Amino acid sequence: MKVLVTGAHGQLGRSLQANVPAGITIVGVDLEDFDIADEHQVRDRLQLEQPDVVVNTAAWTAVDLAESNEADAVKANVDGPRILAEVSQELGARLIHISTDFVFDGRSDSPYSPTAIANPQSVYGRTKYDGEQAVLAAMPNSAVVLRTAWLYSEYGGNFVSTMLRLMSERDEISVVDDQIGTPTWARSVANAIFSFLDQPEVAGIFHWTDSGQASWYDFATAIKEEASDLGILDNAAEIRPIPSKDYKVAATRPAFSVLDCSATEDVLNISATPWRKSLRMMLKAGDRS
Ligand SMILES: NC(=O)c1ccc[n+]([C@@H]2O[C@H](COP(=O)([O-])OP(=O)(O)OC[C@H]3O[C@@H](n4cnc5c(N)ncnc54)[C@H](OP(=O)(O)O)[C@@H]3O)[C@@H](O)[C@H]2O)c1
Repeated sequence: MKVLVTGAHGQLGRSLQANVPAGITIVGVDLEDFDIADEHQVRDRLQLEQPDVVVNTAAWTAVDLAESNEADAVKANVDGPRILAEVSQELGARLIHISTDFVFDGRSDSPYSPTAIANPQSVYGRTKYDGEQAVLAAMPNSAVVLRTAWLYSEYGGNFVSTMLRLMSERDEISVVDDQIGTPTWARSVANAIFSFLDQPEVAGIFHWTDSGQASWYDFATAIKEEASDLGILDNAAEIRPIPSKDYKVAATRPAFSVLDCSATEDVLNISATPWRKSLRMMLKAGDRS
């Protein structure tokens, strides 16, 4: 099976390429040679490659910068997914499109099911939601929209790499404790995507994260404890819990964005990994380049 992965230099794109199972060939493309919002580039490359499946991990993911760069966020998060879906539909390829917990407003106190009503509170969340709608409109019977949350990985900059750096540089760091979600290793999402490839008839909106829930403060504390235990961190800063109102950022985040993944577990016959177990495995895997 031939799979074209967009956003191949990103966290999830790299995790997909690093963990590809036997029998699957991945062609990884990224912005410099495949802008998902450029219809000609998309059509030419998909016609050339003739993939069985397109996995769209490409996105504008700078949540705060999106507030002041809405046009760029729309291009990557709405126009790009629409074009990918239209061309995939024309060429008979399946599309697995990745989306986010930020489509929800965070006012729930129980995990969001895939059918829960979306009400994004930021430009990033709104553009990702519009992208989902564009994909489902173009491919109502065959696209998979897979929402995930709080991604980290051994690749590039993310919450874990930032925390490890700050903890080694400072005596104290402040981390918000009133936003609740599920820290999720990109490899867990990559593995779920590979399970979707085994089930070609499955379509619709699905959720996938590691299991359990935590605040950013809990997550930071776990990073400190696990990294210290593994000997990765020598000088670990004190971590101080603070409310979101004391941490000024441009975009509003959902206060609670735990995703209910049970339908995906049932359909794919897989189980989510407890988030702290994934964190430890990622830290052990090393290579935080
Ligand atoms: N990170 C999270 O916490 C999180 C949480 C929930 C959902 N998600 C979703 O999960 C997916 C993967 O996230 P990630 O963390 O792996 O993202 P990432 O590391 O930011 O990677 C995204 C990649 O897409 C590329 N890209 C941006 N605009 C593009 C365009 N117009 N055409 C082609 N490529 C483009 C980026 O290139 P440049 O770097 O050159 O811009 C980057 O290589 C995204 O759909 C994201 O919305 C992420």
